[in-house]
Amino acid sequence: MNKKILLSGIQPSGKPHIGNYFGMMKQMIEMQDSHESYFFIPDYHALNSVQDKEVLKDNILNLVIDYLAIGFDPQKSVIFKQSDVSEHTELAWIFDTITPMAYLERAHAYKDAEANKKEINVGTFNYPMLMAADILLYDVDVVPVGQDQKQHVEYARDTAQKFNNIFKTEILKLPQSKIMQEVAVVPGTDGQKMSKSYGNTIPLFATHDEIKKAVMSIVTDSRGIEEKRNPEEDNVFKLHRLFSTQDELNDLRQKYENGGFSHKESKEILIKNIETFIAPLREKREKLAHDVDYVLDVLKEGGKRAKQKAEKKMDQVREVIGVKLY
Ligand code: ADP
Ligand code: TRP
Repeated sequence: MNKKILLSGIQPSGKPHIGNYFGMMKQMIEMQDSHESYFFIPDYHALNSVQDKEVLKDNILNLVIDYLAIGFDPQKSVIFKQSDVSEHTELAWIFDTITPMAYLERAHAYKDAEANKKEINVGTFNYPMLMAADILLYDVDVVPVGQDQKQHVEYARDTAQKFNNIFKTEILKLPQSKIMQEVAVVPGTDGQKMSKSYGNTIPLFATHDEIKKAVMSIVTDSRGIEEKRNPEEDNVFKLHRLFSTQDELNDLRQKYENGGFSHKESKEILIKNIETFIAPLREKREKLAHDVDYVLDVLKEGGKRAKQKAEKKMDQVREVIGVKLY
């Protein structure tokens, strides 16, 4: 039986954090065996916010290294960058022509941007159309993402359906998002969703000092040590969930509920557990960072493989819309 096709991407707009890891990257890594997997770097999406040559280049390279360090296997899966496959922007244009403005105005990301910024560029506005193209070029079945990207995947699905209806075809496959409910939203040090844009992250490859600093800054309530606390309401405990075994978690829960367990003690355990988790990843990353030629080769090869697939789909698209004359 043919394997189901999986695709996801993360913008090269800064260092990945543990929210990205548990919300999305981990699932991708685990699904490599059971799925034909595509991981790509949406660098043209990132151009909406990163408009500095050296920064963008660095971010792209670092992200490939990060992915290889957490176990992405180029023998099994394809890793590539969006800008190596020009079919993405080409198909996005075609989607622009069948999409009403009002539909894009309803997208959460656009509404948020509108609420926060005075001026929004067109690239941010039709971001969901480029994302739809990213997905629909590869006959994707599953898109593993965090909760905040669910609507974008629905936009891709709607757009596929609309395209198929208008052009009386079935060439675009309807994708589905896959969201891990357990960790759908990993909280940051301030209790809000962990996000690069909120400055509340614990970087995925953090040094010991960075881990310590971030964990010590986690916002907690002001109850005295002796008081009993509800672990479910505690930001430190929410992170313990990601780094503890079930037994450890039960034990921590007891300590919270019994009282006499300080925030500091809880944080110290968390620092130790995060360090145990991150240390081997950090080591692997350091080795890869010394072998940039290998990393670039992996990316280049991935681009070629992705392009082969995207070209075929684009050829069908040109045919059904009526621009293919020879
Ligand atoms: P950020 O908010 O830090 O800029 P991105 O928007 O680049 O993160 O998200 C990359 C991927 O990681 C997406 O699939 C997103 O849904 C997921 N993700 C980001 N932050 C979290 C979080 N705090 N919890 C769970 N998943 C997350
Ligand atoms: N919008 C996604 C994010 O910010 C990144 C992205 C772009 C993506 N194209 C995609 C994710 C296609 C999955 C599939 O996280």
